[in-house]
Amino acid sequence: SRPVRDRIQERRQQALLGGGQRRIDAQHKKGKLTARERIDLLLDPGTFVEYDMFAEHRCSDFGGLEKSANQFPGDSVVTGHGRIYGRPVYLFSQDFTVMGGSVGSVHARKICKIMDQALLTGVPVIGLNDSGGARIPEGVDALEGYGEIFQRNVEASGVVPQISMIMGPCAGGAAYSPALTDFTFMVKDTSYLFITGPDVIKSVTCEVVNQEELGGATVHTTLSGVAHKAFDNDVDALLRLREFYNFLPLSNTDPSPIRPTEDPANRLCPVLDHMVPLDSTESFNMLDVIQTVVDEEDFFEIMPSYAKNIVVGFARMNGRTVGIVGNQPKVAAGCVDIDASVKGARFIRFCDAFNIPILTFVDVPGFLPGTAQEHGGIIRHGAKMLFAYSEATVPKITVITRKAYGGSYGVMGNKHMKADIVYAWPTAEVAVMGAKGAVSIMFKGQKDQAKKETEYMEKFANPFPVAIRGFVDDILEPRMTRTRICQDLDLLCTKKESRPWRKHNNLPL
Ligand code: COA
Repeated sequence: SRPVRDRIQERRQQALLGGGQRRIDAQHKKGKLTARERIDLLLDPGTFVEYDMFAEHRCSDFGGLEKSANQFPGDSVVTGHGRIYGRPVYLFSQDFTVMGGSVGSVHARKICKIMDQALLTGVPVIGLNDSGGARIPEGVDALEGYGEIFQRNVEASGVVPQISMIMGPCAGGAAYSPALTDFTFMVKDTSYLFITGPDVIKSVTCEVVNQEELGGATVHTTLSGVAHKAFDNDVDALLRLREFYNFLPLSNTDPSPIRPTEDPANRLCPVLDHMVPLDSTESFNMLDVIQTVVDEEDFFEIMPSYAKNIVVGFARMNGRTVGIVGNQPKVAAGCVDIDASVKGARFIRFCDAFNIPILTFVDVPGFLPGTAQEHGGIIRHGAKMLFAYSEATVPKITVITRKAYGGSYGVMGNKHMKADIVYAWPTAEVAVMGAKGAVSIMFKGQKDQAKKETEYMEKFANPFPVAIRGFVDDILEPRMTRTRICQDLDLLCTKKESRPWRKHNNLPL
């Protein structure tokens, strides 16, 4: 009847306004968009389909149901599905204007509903986080809510991609939901992530720290490695997220997506012929190599400010998404250390879980030496990267551009650990160690060290030892790198490799 229709309309209007104009203004004043404005920017226009717009909390404690002012249709999160460049996505966007976006049982149930649906349909989930954490008056019901979300995060892991964009506070146990997802991005200056906030820290340890210094975007993208990238503001973050989404398959049964490109697959890259300096102690920028090789120089780097001695990210080759890993000779000579190992391993495992071929560009003189690394457990952490390469069954192509020494040769996707194709550039040097170190051990205390070093270099500082043994499939002129990799990927897209049954492996953690 008419009055019901009116009430429905009224409720919808109310839901669209979230916590009301005053709080929306406050949100804008902080430089943040509202939950709904964010969804509008992220999705293709007109594609958002909302669920549970009428959901309301039923908590009567602390006057929760006394005033209508405490009831907000839709509660403190907007959920549903839509499209990004035409491809489906489920999403939730926490509404800070309603009770600080806090997570009560209704809020949690709304998120769980879209996560369940995403798993059933094989579609990724994006979470836009902006929340004051567990809704305090709801007590343990709020904690149940988090538990239900965590369980789904874990069950969806490796089945559908999950992406978290932190666009405001995300504190306490709440921080573990993004941590369980595949990628955590942050907005500079307006977002922060921590388990215990500044007040708790002060009262327990007397340490004084503010939110930004404790868990802002800079901290998590440079120091802790908790977040994978930071963006300047909400608009920048959401538009870049659209581009990022385009690289990902929808699920673990979906092939990696192909986007038609104008960039010819057989484009020669003559600039690569002179990329590696003649003096092997001089550095070059691996990002230049990567950008030259991939389609349209378009490389979406993951963790660009953390463990910069290794570079990881997504690009396309002849339109097909690839995951790229490269040592970065410009930083710590490209040595592998604890942080680089963990960064590399996590990225490789994501690619393997989601059918994304892995391209590796090697120039690695070794593991970073020192007590800090050894005592920090480089053996345990370096093993993660080795493990990740070895367990990956997606197409794996490795290009040894220059150095590949000793144990670090072993962790960068070599032929013995089932890389499908390995190329050496003419500048490749694969050896147990560099000439100086080798000679000082082999000819300890003897004269003519310099002569011995030259001899060693002549023997090992070239691609022949590995080419003779078939440890590399070919010595490749650098200019041919793109052409050959594009051809290889076309062939390898039908690769099928299986491993013996097991419940799961025991990745060294
Ligand atoms: N439960 C219930 N309501 C909450 C809440 C929570 N966890 N966090 C925030 N709110 C409410 C506030 O009461 C306020 O309501 P109002 O709009 O009706 O006044 C609104 O959200 C905005 O919060 P406010 O504190 O004014 O915003 P702020 O930007 O100054 O601070 C926080 C944001 C998140 C730092 C602050 O609200 C906070 O510390 N919240 C508690 C965090 C926490 O410890 N959560 C539990 C851990 S899991």
